[in-house]
Amino acid sequence: MTVNPGRTRAGQTRHFLDLDRFDTETLRRILDLGASYKRGDQPFGTAKPLSGRLLAMIFEKPSTRTRVSFEAGMKQLGGDVIVLSRGDTQLGRGETIADTARVLSRYVDAIMIRTDDPNKLLELSQYASVPVINGLTDRTHPCQVMADIMTFEEHRGSLEGKVVAWVGDGNNVAASWIQAAGHFGCEIRVACPPDLCPDAGVVAWARAQGAQVSIGHDATAAVAGAHLVLTDTWVSMGCQDTNRPALLAPFQVNEALMAKADPSALFMHCLPAHRNEEVTDAVMDGPQSVVWDEAENRLHVQKGILTWCLL
Ligand code: CP
Ligand code: NVA
Repeated sequence: MTVNPGRTRAGQTRHFLDLDRFDTETLRRILDLGASYKRGDQPFGTAKPLSGRLLAMIFEKPSTRTRVSFEAGMKQLGGDVIVLSRGDTQLGRGETIADTARVLSRYVDAIMIRTDDPNKLLELSQYASVPVINGLTDRTHPCQVMADIMTFEEHRGSLEGKVVAWVGDGNNVAASWIQAAGHFGCEIRVACPPDLCPDAGVVAWARAQGAQVSIGHDATAAVAGAHLVLTDTWVSMGCQDTNRPALLAPFQVNEALMAKADPSALFMHCLPAHRNEEVTDAVMDGPQSVVWDEAENRLHVQKGILTWCLL
């Protein structure tokens, strides 16, 4: 059997690393594939287009959605997965990322990694001969934002001309959203504490694409008239800063804040949520919340990512 045919017909390895590495047409193709899987279509003419293919998933941080949605997606497409947590592998004892990439490429057809340092993701992609997928780093979380875009589109149509408000920590999910604004024509307004602003390089890239990106410190101003309100945990995985709740308390998404948004506004959160910290129960469980659709769409859009990477 040919192990890891994981290159495209054009002979290039199709990594899914970050949204700023793509042209918009390719992201559109992946989103369309995700919507197609959700409808129950077979865009590759078979229910099992990844039959015989294996995905290795390396987790250096915890996960519920990413782990289960990738595993379910691979299995639904006819493939299978191997899950590796840091402690299970020689990575935990100092084997290099580069050597791990070379070895795993001899066994599997694609590698997904969730890790802290974005340089580990890049090193893995440089040394792997199979597609590498970013399952979250401290810098970005592109699979999540692809699911968010899919969710917005299915409820409200195109993001073009819409106002997206990010309220809270200017973290990894915020960074991928800012990159998304560089592709999909939405304005993005970030409201965060001054010490927790999003990655400046990401903001500069999106602005260079023509995106309207504002970074401020007033949640009400950011949300005024917005069509989508997003937040995330105040304390991301690996963060040791005990002062976060005090810094972020003025950025809680509650009913009073949602009332400032456009009446059609949706609420999203990548989850896991810390209820009644960054978001109140009333908003999480309220009529504007689409968080469960958002979580479901991880499955569908990642099937799009997997088949784009592998077929
Ligand atoms: N949203 C998200 O990536 O969730 P997990 O940490 O559970 O994978
Ligand atoms: N910002 C969060 C996202 C979790 C899916 C974290 O990095 O922990």
